[in-house]
Amino acid sequence: MQKLTLTRPDDCHLHLRDGAALKMVLPYTVQQFARAIVMPNLKPPVRSVEDAAAYRDRILAAMPAGKRFEPLMTLYLTDNTSPEEIIAAKASGFVKALKYYPAGATTNSDFGVTDIRKCDRVFEAMQEVNMPLLLHGEVIDVDIFDRERVFIERHLVSLQQRFPNLRVVLEHVTTADAVQFVLAAENIAATITPQHLLFNRNILFKGGIRPHFYCLPILKREEHRQALLKAATSGNPKFFLGTDSAPHTRNSKESACGCAGCFSALHAMALYAEAFEGENALDKLEAFASFYGPDFYQFPRNTEQITLIKKTWRVPDEVPFTESGLVPLGAGQEMSWQVAESE
Ligand code: NCD
Ligand code: ZN
Repeated sequence: MQKLTLTRPDDCHLHLRDGAALKMVLPYTVQQFARAIVMPNLKPPVRSVEDAAAYRDRILAAMPAGKRFEPLMTLYLTDNTSPEEIIAAKASGFVKALKYYPAGATTNSDFGVTDIRKCDRVFEAMQEVNMPLLLHGEVIDVDIFDRERVFIERHLVSLQQRFPNLRVVLEHVTTADAVQFVLAAENIAATITPQHLLFNRNILFKGGIRPHFYCLPILKREEHRQALLKAATSGNPKFFLGTDSAPHTRNSKESACGCAGCFSALHAMALYAEAFEGENALDKLEAFASFYGPDFYQFPRNTEQITLIKKTWRVPDEVPFTESGLVPLGAGQEMSWQVAESE
């Protein structure tokens, strides 16, 4: 196959940052995606409908001229989020979900929830108004490779029993355990990133430590990557595209204590095409990228299209960013698909 035309996809998990960083990364997403679920982990986080409205305005103000793109906003759940804020979020129309981060789990999660049970009144309200809950599904007190599995066992099983009608997205799943759980559960879907489809944990230490492959949840063993590939290419609507593109400056990644996050917005669709082609499943890419996300969120599917063309190119070592450059996922590697420039 030399050319692949798809319904324009949506990125159901994206970090756009703010200020100068936002301006630098937004065009890459806009070139490929019609909409994105925008993560709220700014400093300080987006906690109220008012914060989300202001952030949405800043995103729209940073848009490249003449392009169309819809940022779909989320609120950051804290110990103090009130059920009233959920009602207001639903009424706003532009807040599409609440994001749960366990306190201390990842980049800018200091305001995160200290005990998920503290949120039961909020979950009750979310279930009532049909507002999805997005989970960073990790606990923080066990071995880093077990954090997702233990989160499911310790919290998710009982959350689902307490709130069977709450719609949940287990974000950036990384394990066979998560895939198995999602397959068996009602009202639960999952996003899958390009890095977790393309790499296992060995890449982190290939010939030396490679901080640009460090993200959270951390890359896992090959058997888990295989389970994710199988889920993503299975045609099951519970699994859909969410890049978790999370830009950090080169300096903050290449450091004694480097930040977690892979930047994939630059070439997200090419990365997914690579992964699907490797499984001989390019025919499953459109539904994963463009149908199942909006179906779960109950949005209309996009009607425009994008075209991917088969063309060898090299991922740049760096793209311009803020105080230092931004290193894309798989910098320096050859890729075989490219998104055709839209007219
Ligand atoms: C994200 C970031 O940098 O904002 N980092 C990451 O490794 N995925 C935070 C997150 O989604 O966990
Ligand atoms: Zn994320």
